[in-house]
Amino acid sequence: MIENNKVHKILYGGDYNPEQWPEDTWEEDMRLLKLAHIDVVTLNVFSWASLQPSEDTYTFDKLDKIMEMVTKHGLNVCLATSTAAHPAWMARKHPDILRTEFNGMKRKFGSRHNSCPNSPAYRKYSTALATKLAERYKSYDNIVAWHISNEYGGECYCENCEKAFRTWLKNKYKTIDAVNQAWDTAFWGHTFYDFDDIVLPNMLSEHFAENRTTFQGISLDYRRFNSESILDCYRLEYDAVHAITPHIPITTNLMGAYYPLDYQMWAKYMDFISWDNYPANDTVLEDIAFKHDLMRGLKQGKPFALMEQTPSVTNWLPYNALKRPGVMRLWSYQAVAHGADTVMFFQMKRSIGACEKYHGAVIDHAGHENTRVFREISALGAELDKIGSLTLGARTCSKAAIVFDWDNWWATDYSAGPSVNLNYFDEVLNYYKAFNNLNISVDLISVEDDLSGYSFVVAPLLYMVKPGYDEKIRRFVQNGGRFLTTFFSGYVDDHDLVTIGGYPGKLRDILGIWVEEEDALPNDAQNSFIYQGTTYPATLICDLLHTEGAQSLSEYEQDFYAGMPALTRNTFGQGVAYYVATRSNADFYRTLIGEICEEAGIRPIMDTPELIEVTKRSNANGTFMFFLNHDAKSHDIKLPCSGTDILTDTAYKDGDVMTLSAKGVAIIHIIEN
Ligand code: GLA
Ligand code: ZN
Repeated sequence: MIENNKVHKILYGGDYNPEQWPEDTWEEDMRLLKLAHIDVVTLNVFSWASLQPSEDTYTFDKLDKIMEMVTKHGLNVCLATSTAAHPAWMARKHPDILRTEFNGMKRKFGSRHNSCPNSPAYRKYSTALATKLAERYKSYDNIVAWHISNEYGGECYCENCEKAFRTWLKNKYKTIDAVNQAWDTAFWGHTFYDFDDIVLPNMLSEHFAENRTTFQGISLDYRRFNSESILDCYRLEYDAVHAITPHIPITTNLMGAYYPLDYQMWAKYMDFISWDNYPANDTVLEDIAFKHDLMRGLKQGKPFALMEQTPSVTNWLPYNALKRPGVMRLWSYQAVAHGADTVMFFQMKRSIGACEKYHGAVIDHAGHENTRVFREISALGAELDKIGSLTLGARTCSKAAIVFDWDNWWATDYSAGPSVNLNYFDEVLNYYKAFNNLNISVDLISVEDDLSGYSFVVAPLLYMVKPGYDEKIRRFVQNGGRFLTTFFSGYVDDHDLVTIGGYPGKLRDILGIWVEEEDALPNDAQNSFIYQGTTYPATLICDLLHTEGAQSLSEYEQDFYAGMPALTRNTFGQGVAYYVATRSNADFYRTLIGEICEEAGIRPIMDTPELIEVTKRSNANGTFMFFLNHDAKSHDIKLPCSGTDILTDTAYKDGDVMTLSAKGVAIIHIIEN
């Protein structure tokens, strides 16, 4: 979609469902969408029931008409394959497509995202439909992307999945002995004699709550298996459409930090990343920024598509407050500032029935253009027209990276001890926020990504160290890199089996410490440490550690381990490795990250007041500095460079003061000296 964009601008549009409406309303939709400067529509997201009304019948008449109409009106199309909700006849005829829930409940026909990923019928018919769609519409040159299914997700615990899990395990481990070893089944006499003894880990077997399992090994492997099973469904459709239309890029809309699917693995099979951004009104700016950066990191920094956001309001929150005036524009540009090359919505037109009828849309139930939301949408559309191709393809240059790893997310989530409050996502986010607040560009990377381009790598809660990863970090630090990790790191291998000899296992020599015990603090309990004259809280977990080469930068103040290190620094080769032995607060993270960045020669883009976010993207046209005012009041910003705001054509000289209105945005095209 990004490379294939005929109009060569930030594509603007989103989900459009004309099949839900009488045909004589379509032309008016076209008038309104044009008025709003919409240039792309995502079609055919949930039409399987009408495209294939029975096992052997396919009917494309309506979609043909829709394709012709939008093409006549010059719209680009993001064409979905409709496989995110199966038709009723399929559930009746092939009940194996129905999912079984975590508690063992077999579902009946209903809702969406409801197909068992290991159902042979689902795989057969979804692939067949994708093939038919590709064959039928292959000659449309306004199809800018394939949108496979929709927001893949969830999990299934049915018998098909159980059988497939055994096969998956056989491929992975070859012998049942290897499985027993990997899962340490000598514990509680759990030895499996045969692959057929293995059942799916859920409330009927190993679990006593969603994330409480008696055997982490099996639960972790199930997570991997489930993510891969669903990925297999995506890949079958990918291959089907790719074989017929190799020139059309293929994506599926991801959901940001989505726990059940290992998006880093998924990304390998996607031509470009697209994702759906649905913050609540009180979501803080760093949380949104984090997800954008996570999505950008999936393809090593390549631009991504903002596939969905609401123009105004959602329907599924407990309180669906309106996006305040200016917020839709601000959050659209925030996506672009972090690497998006499209701005798209769910949805073009509000439906009249079912659960999304009160979800925001470009065309509201009022049916005309005289609404606040429509005015905001068309104003933004006009701006995007004006920007044209200027920012397309621009990349973010980061010298710092934070490691985010789905296996670590799952493994820490399943961990029995040391604390139920241990939360991988929050821990990573704490460090991310420090970078974001300091206006230091940071990439979110996987454990497979190359580290050599970075000067500073942070791996919070690197509980699981996969084979070879310690070596990668070792080389990075030896060659002069700065590395930081935290408590509860280096404990286990990729099977969640403890590396014995002292924590943090294979990271010990790099960090120059060993951890003897870890104290989990209940909710309101705190220890503290003084760092550079300031007292900071120590919460959640306090490691009791000994240095073996590292220098202690600060020590605990209270309890029987007062005086033991809370923060250490180890010179290793030409680099330095830091260990943060506890959780602290935002001030501490900002201070520490700021200092290490300075030491590593990483500069903030500039200093800004709180709630003013600033990012940079560069392409062949130059460098663009995005200023985003998330505050409800205006701010004066002294510019650190000369340039022109591409939204208003205002020219600024280095040192000029630019006023950013409340929720305001400026994109300064920098004039290089
Ligand atoms: C998701 C889905 C859409 C729609 C929106 C509503 O992103 O992909 O089909 O349900 O949520 O917010
Ligand atoms: Zn299943």
